[in-house]
Amino acid sequence: MSTSSGHIIIVVGAGPAGMAVTNMMAKAGHDVIVLNRDIKFGGLAEYGIFPSKLKLRGGLKKQYWDMLEQPNVHYFGNVSVGKGKALTVEELRSLGASAIVFSIGAQGTKTIGVEGDSAKGVFHAKDVVYHFNQLPGFGDRPFDMGKHVAIIGVGDVMVDIAHWLIRYKKVERVTAIARRGPLERKYNPKEIRAVCSNVDLEGLKKEFDRIRQRLEAVAQRPDEVLKGMTDEFIKCEPKISDTRMGFRFLASPKRVLVDASNRVRALELEETKLEPKGEDTAAVGLKQFYEFPVDSVVFAVGDKVDETVGLPYKNGSFVTNPAKTGNDPDDSLFQAYDETSGKIVEGVFLAGWARKASEGLVGVAKRDGEWCAEVVMRYLGGKSQLPKASAGEVLKKIRQMLSTRGTHAVDIKGLRALDAAEKDHAKAGDCIGEFKFTTNSDMLARIEKYAGKSPASVGR
Ligand SMILES: Cc1cc2nc3c(=O)[nH]c(=O)nc-3n(C[C@H](O)[C@H](O)[C@H](O)COP(=O)(O)OP(=O)(O)OC[C@H]3O[C@@H](n4cnc5c(N)ncnc54)[C@H](O)[C@@H]3O)c2cc1C
Ligand SMILES: NC(=O)c1ccc[n+]([C@@H]2O[C@H](COP(=O)([O-])OP(=O)(O)OC[C@H]3O[C@@H](n4cnc5c(N)ncnc54)[C@H](OP(=O)(O)O)[C@@H]3O)[C@@H](O)[C@H]2O)c1
Repeated sequence: MSTSSGHIIIVVGAGPAGMAVTNMMAKAGHDVIVLNRDIKFGGLAEYGIFPSKLKLRGGLKKQYWDMLEQPNVHYFGNVSVGKGKALTVEELRSLGASAIVFSIGAQGTKTIGVEGDSAKGVFHAKDVVYHFNQLPGFGDRPFDMGKHVAIIGVGDVMVDIAHWLIRYKKVERVTAIARRGPLERKYNPKEIRAVCSNVDLEGLKKEFDRIRQRLEAVAQRPDEVLKGMTDEFIKCEPKISDTRMGFRFLASPKRVLVDASNRVRALELEETKLEPKGEDTAAVGLKQFYEFPVDSVVFAVGDKVDETVGLPYKNGSFVTNPAKTGNDPDDSLFQAYDETSGKIVEGVFLAGWARKASEGLVGVAKRDGEWCAEVVMRYLGGKSQLPKASAGEVLKKIRQMLSTRGTHAVDIKGLRALDAAEKDHAKAGDCIGEFKFTTNSDMLARIEKYAGKSPASVGR
């Protein structure tokens, strides 16, 4: 691959969006430096997608290896960018790269502001997902689930967590709590197959009877909605636990109620009704509150971006340029924007869930990365920009800074060594899916052992 353009693009975050940007920019002949918080690439493709989905995960992994092994791509795993991290946004901007793309996903925790949400037994979905996917920092931490777990939200993340609770933790009961009704469920019908053999069908019918009048009030037909919902319970994975799964609809969580040791004992729910809102519906509280006994709560209500990184931030998102350019895709949607100065942050772009938190599947993040790459290429070409620094100079500066800060960056050779080490251990593991080392220090030690190098020298 030729690197004749001379431009250097820094991509921060090696999830599906960042990998798409990297691939497009590398194929266009630019040098691409990828900085990734995790040692491994893949983002949620590695640490989000349910671990037993081996075919999907394996396919993505293979594509990402191919992308990263291009000679003009330079991978640095185990490098976090942000305030107080290995490198700051300002430091990156001072390196002389032609453009920087932030594709760091949505790492912030979205809370819905209910009292008691820090009690023992309350969890946030991303942390739980990181736990069962063995992300360092989460894999070896106890996630002490009780007997009856309430999951707030009815999207695909709820289904993944129910999958883990039902098929691996084998808890007694799981209840998905929806502030709206069954018609507004957000999960993909195919995903429910992982848990549908555990759904308590009698309980579901009773739940529909409980909310029947409120559905009819907005011209929904409860019997048809129930049929539509249960018709999706086909090709259910065989039942392997006695866990009963239920749904509570038109129920908005108001408080987490705790016992004397600050452990969850119930959720306080408010009855809601539906009101039409354009083509959609909104949940409206009825000021009728009741206790719903559970001993654990998982909030699966989506995520927000990490406001501590040092990019302009507002209301759960990084700020993008409000002035449309009319191009397709519109450049403004990908340009970081500083509202204080009223200017775009020159040369800084956003892609994937860093641009729109919790939005869509891997394919959507990939397409977003590709659109972002188109915008960056227009930026490089439109201004006839000359490269500001050589790849060698920028790489040297990054290595110096990381070395000064004692950051053990991992390059693609190191990742190959880690991959070999994990495959060797695969038979010994009792995890879901593939075997993974659960701490960075374990990974760095295996890289050292397998590659015959010290971790500090990897990434050079
Ligand atoms: C639980 C769950 C299950 C899913 N299952 C599926 C599925 O089965 N099929 C499907 O198609 N889609 C699935 N998705 C959706 C899919 O994972 C996302 O669409 C996609 O991963 C988003 O890609 P991204 O690159 O924007 O962000 P991410 O995948 O989150 O990648 C972000 C990357 O940025 C890095 N990073 C974060 N912060 C920093 C920092 N400060 N400095 C440097 N690097 C940083 C991270 O290490 C990570 O590598 C799932 C999502 C979730 C939450
Ligand atoms: N297996 C897969 O393919 C897979 C797995 C996981 C994730 N994903 C993808 O990742 C994306 C994110 O998924 P997600 O499940 O996190 O998000 P999601 O699909 O947006 O679902 C979020 C759920 O949380 C509810 N919610 C939000 N705010 C709430 C509040 N304040 N109070 C009560 N409930 C609230 C929502 O209800 P309302 O509808 O009322 O807002 C909705 O039911 C989706 O695109 C999903 O498809 C895919």
